[in-house]
Amino acid sequence: MRFSGRTIVVTGAASGIGRAAARLFAAEGGTVYAADIDEAGGAAIAGEHTAIRFRRCDVTRPADIAALMDGAAAESGGIDVVFNNAGAGGARGRIDEIEAEDWDATMALLLRSVALGIRHAVPHMIGRPAPAIVNTSSVAAIGPGYAPTAYAVAKAGVLQLTRCAATDLARHGIRVNAVQPGFIQTGIFTAGSDIPANRLDSARALIAGAAQGAQPVARGGEPEDVARAVAFLASGDAGFVTGASLVIDGGLTLGPRHSWDPETPSLTTALQAIAAAP
Ligand code: NAI
Repeated sequence: MRFSGRTIVVTGAASGIGRAAARLFAAEGGTVYAADIDEAGGAAIAGEHTAIRFRRCDVTRPADIAALMDGAAAESGGIDVVFNNAGAGGARGRIDEIEAEDWDATMALLLRSVALGIRHAVPHMIGRPAPAIVNTSSVAAIGPGYAPTAYAVAKAGVLQLTRCAATDLARHGIRVNAVQPGFIQTGIFTAGSDIPANRLDSARALIAGAAQGAQPVARGGEPEDVARAVAFLASGDAGFVTGASLVIDGGLTLGPRHSWDPETPSLTTALQAIAAAP
């Protein structure tokens, strides 16, 4: 019960990683403000636990973020933990194709939302015992190839924002950390896609299959894998951790596939086979 008596705000809480985190915070005693644009999903998670309260909030709208934080604090007397997590794939174009408005929309969704989530929560966190902020970045912040360019740039920005906020807010005793999920099986891969409803199950099966074999840990990543790391960073267990980022990717970013997959021979192995040939 690490979050007993604590007030926690989670964005993107109607699905995937945010939903798993909201459930875990509530299960460990917290009062959770679950924010999202998905009202049906929000109502569903609020119906799961009396300590979870859904609030509609579009994180691309600064006024919505301010109202979310002000409202949670007015009801609960303050805010102890914020998990800035809402997101989607953003603009898909390569850098030589992208339009200015699509770039701006992606930054507003994935980067400005985190900055303003911090901005509007902090006044309600000052003076609380052991306040903490966790932001969702991505393995896409590490290098190209994991996500579209605008998304990857925004998620790299979330890492730097996390470090800068950790120093800016140290004087208030507020810790700020990030998580970098790898390939986690959530709705993000089909959300907003043009896959017809009657083919969504095939798409999900394809995603599940790909997720199992994508990394050294031989199973698909689950939202709960990330939620447990978020709860750790938000809790007193991580009391000496700030400005850090935890990669939760089953080893996806460790190195080339041949280093862990025996079915993928390295150049060295291939040369040895040539040398050993009769
Ligand atoms: P998801 O699609 O299951 O959940 C995202 C939630 O954010 C949804 O409930 C959606 O309605 C909400 N949302 C989208 N736009 C919003 C807006 N403007 N305002 C408020 N809520 C909004 O996806 P998932 O995977 O749980 O994503 C959560 C975070 O994790 C995102 O920031 C994503 O970029 C990040 N991430 C996900 C990875 C994955 O493999 N699933 C990998 C790395 C990072």
